[in-house]
Amino acid sequence: MKDLVPAPPPIVRNEAAAVQALFQQHVIPSYGRFDVVLSHGAGSYVYDVTGKRYLDLGGGIAVSSLGHAHPAITEALIEQSRKLIHISNFYYHEPQGRLAQALVQLLGPGKCFFCNSGVEANEGLFKLARKFGHDEGRFEVLTSFNSFHGRTLAGIAATGQEKVKKGFEPLVPGFRQVPYNDLGAMRAALSAATAAILVEGIQGEGGVTAAAPEYLLGLRRLCDEHKLLLMFDGVQDGHFRTGRFQSFQRLLEGEPGADKFLPDAVAMAKSLGGGFPVGAFWVRAPYADLLGAGSHGTTYGGSPLACAVALKVLEVVQRERLADNARRMGEFLLSGLQNLVDRYPTVLRNARGVGLMLGLELAPDIPGLPGESNKTQAVRFANLLHAAGVLAIPAGAQILRFLPPLNLRPAEAEEGLSAVEAAARCLAQQSSEHR
Ligand SMILES: Cc1ncc(COP(=O)(O)O)c(C=O)c1O
Repeated sequence: MKDLVPAPPPIVRNEAAAVQALFQQHVIPSYGRFDVVLSHGAGSYVYDVTGKRYLDLGGGIAVSSLGHAHPAITEALIEQSRKLIHISNFYYHEPQGRLAQALVQLLGPGKCFFCNSGVEANEGLFKLARKFGHDEGRFEVLTSFNSFHGRTLAGIAATGQEKVKKGFEPLVPGFRQVPYNDLGAMRAALSAATAAILVEGIQGEGGVTAAAPEYLLGLRRLCDEHKLLLMFDGVQDGHFRTGRFQSFQRLLEGEPGADKFLPDAVAMAKSLGGGFPVGAFWVRAPYADLLGAGSHGTTYGGSPLACAVALKVLEVVQRERLADNARRMGEFLLSGLQNLVDRYPTVLRNARGVGLMLGLELAPDIPGLPGESNKTQAVRFANLLHAAGVLAIPAGAQILRFLPPLNLRPAEAEEGLSAVEAAARCLAQQSSEHR
């Protein structure tokens, strides 16, 4: 891999309290934020306003696929912004056409639509499902418990977590959840109104749980038998994070029949733009013209600037074989985390995941875990890692996620493991003193 970590700019001010005060006064408090005020980044590291360096193993929740301040992204932004940042989707332009072609080559015969975020990509899939089933009066999309599909009204109706729905009822009709990885439950849930199934290959927000290969193959058969669309939400686990372009390709590796497996639609975002907001969905050939002229749109979707950046991210990922790196670094991190689980069972319960999408489940009720009792264990453990200079993302109350850049280096992976180990060792000592 090329050396791509430029020297960070010097730190001149310590204005954390002032920045936090601006948020408290002027920003809607819909996020529970950590006590960290970031200033800039370089490669796999970010720096706060006091100059403290953090290894970013959260990757902005699986977004910063090339790390921070990658010169190729900066160059693409500058070069394209000198030519054309935005035009209406009433007109053609080359970057959108070339990005669609690249995604089709990676997935299979079909077509793409471009938007700006993950939930917007999923909204497109919901509309595709409605259009698909419309003439037969079918409209329902089945999803999974513990799934996460975004924060719009349809997104929360599709999501299988009560906490995102609470207070926003009545929910958009036409979504039902069933247990994940349970083909019998999915079969039993089908109704005359069902038009599609939407599934994450690896549930991310739900705690890093992978679908079993036979489940995915079974879903394809079920959809074929009942004339349903099989749709994947590849927003978090996609774009080479697992070592293949989409997680289903990785999860099905070596399975008989896997080479013929193709979903009917895939939603993408996050790593696609490496930090620049780009969303997309791909639709398999037979259904690719269902959303005809006038049926769907968004002002900014697939702008020349967004597509130029996404094309550049793809070029770097492919040229530098970052899918292989994600696989290698993922295996290294996972075995390191599993080793820590074995050594510190009173603190760490389980490590799981595929490629650079990893989850570390904490033991219940860790004695001596610092932090306020109204904060989840995952948040309190993340705070310990922050103190040690590592960023990780909570998933639910008990799990920490690691979703680092795809160009993570071995020394950085080791640094992350050392920080987790130091925190676990310290807590394990306290819990043995507690007994
Ligand atoms: C699987 C999945 N789908 C959809 C979304 C929503 O994406 P966005 O926040 O870009 O709308 C997320 C975000 O975390 C996600 O993980």
